Amino acid sequence: MKIGTDIELAAQNIREGGLVAFPTETVYGLGADAFNTQAVAKIFEAKERPTFDPLIVHISSLQQLDYLFDKPINNLVYTLAEIFWPGPLTIVHRKNIIVSGLVTAGLDTVAVRMPSHPIALSFINQSQRPIAAPSANKFGQLSPTRHEHVVKQNMNIDYILQDNFGIMGLESTVVYVEGNNCTVLRPGIITLQQLMDVIPQTKVLNKTGDKNLPSPGLLKSHYSPKKPLYLLNDDEFVFPDKSGVILHAKKNKKLNVEKLIYTSKNCNLIEVAANMFSALHDMEENENIQQIYIETVPENGLGVAIMDRMKKAAYKYAV
Ligand code: TXA
Ligand code: MG
Repeated sequence: MKIGTDIELAAQNIREGGLVAFPTETVYGLGADAFNTQAVAKIFEAKERPTFDPLIVHISSLQQLDYLFDKPINNLVYTLAEIFWPGPLTIVHRKNIIVSGLVTAGLDTVAVRMPSHPIALSFINQSQRPIAAPSANKFGQLSPTRHEHVVKQNMNIDYILQDNFGIMGLESTVVYVEGNNCTVLRPGIITLQQLMDVIPQTKVLNKTGDKNLPSPGLLKSHYSPKKPLYLLNDDEFVFPDKSGVILHAKKNKKLNVEKLIYTSKNCNLIEVAANMFSALHDMEENENIQQIYIETVPENGLGVAIMDRMKKAAYKYAV
């Protein structure tokens, strides 16, 4: 793990699929190339998160929204961006199809913000791609506001971009925009009053939860395929016709099934996490498949989060 102030080196680490901790005006983020699922999977491994929470994607120019948000982009996004970006406001909007389910935890929305910290902005700009980043702390720990806090966590990070100035220590406000509505999902630095001054109809999400809103943490939102999905932990299982099977390591015996997808050759959990959601999507879209089987992985390290998502995805089909 290197620590320093070399923005170009940090950006190079991102382009090569590495992890970089970087200062923002709210807290330190732990970033990876948002369009490199293997790199994004490393974030969850480093944080030792027991679940795949959706991540905030950090941008440095409004043009980057074109391939993060689904078209047409809601005008409220630009209204908010004009006043609050760059700055501590995160906007959740329907996602463009190319954004990985690992970034969004399988939701069909994605959270985006343009930070105002000058180091963060030039780091994202020099990386030449949007950066997916949660706060740079291990699960259950306080959000870091100094690079020493990040160092102390002892996570597997390629570079820590050091700058302890101008960090407020409280996370961004998260809002969801849809139609004519703007809803606060997480309170943060930008207050409700500030938002209402710009969009008078802004509301705070009602704590009991609104089923139409994507609000992980408040609602138990989770990805579940539209076809029956079963967990597989038996090597001798005989598959019915029209089965799609997802495995994580090459097997010696040949499987006679409609479609077989490997997420990894040797159960590398970073690869499994990176490829699991897209394998489920492929199976879901394949017209020749009626039911899906997915192999389980050992529940330790990143395997805890992988199994959490897998069990949630298969939950409604469990027998
Ligand atoms: O200030 C911040 O927002 C910091 C810096 C690094 O940008 N980041 C941060 O990330 O606090 P994290 O992962 O600790 O919190 C992300 C929040 C969570 O509350 C998550 O549920 C919400 O954003 N979120 C992300 N994607 C979402 C989505 N598609 N729908 C609803 N909420 C989402
Ligand atoms: Mg956090």
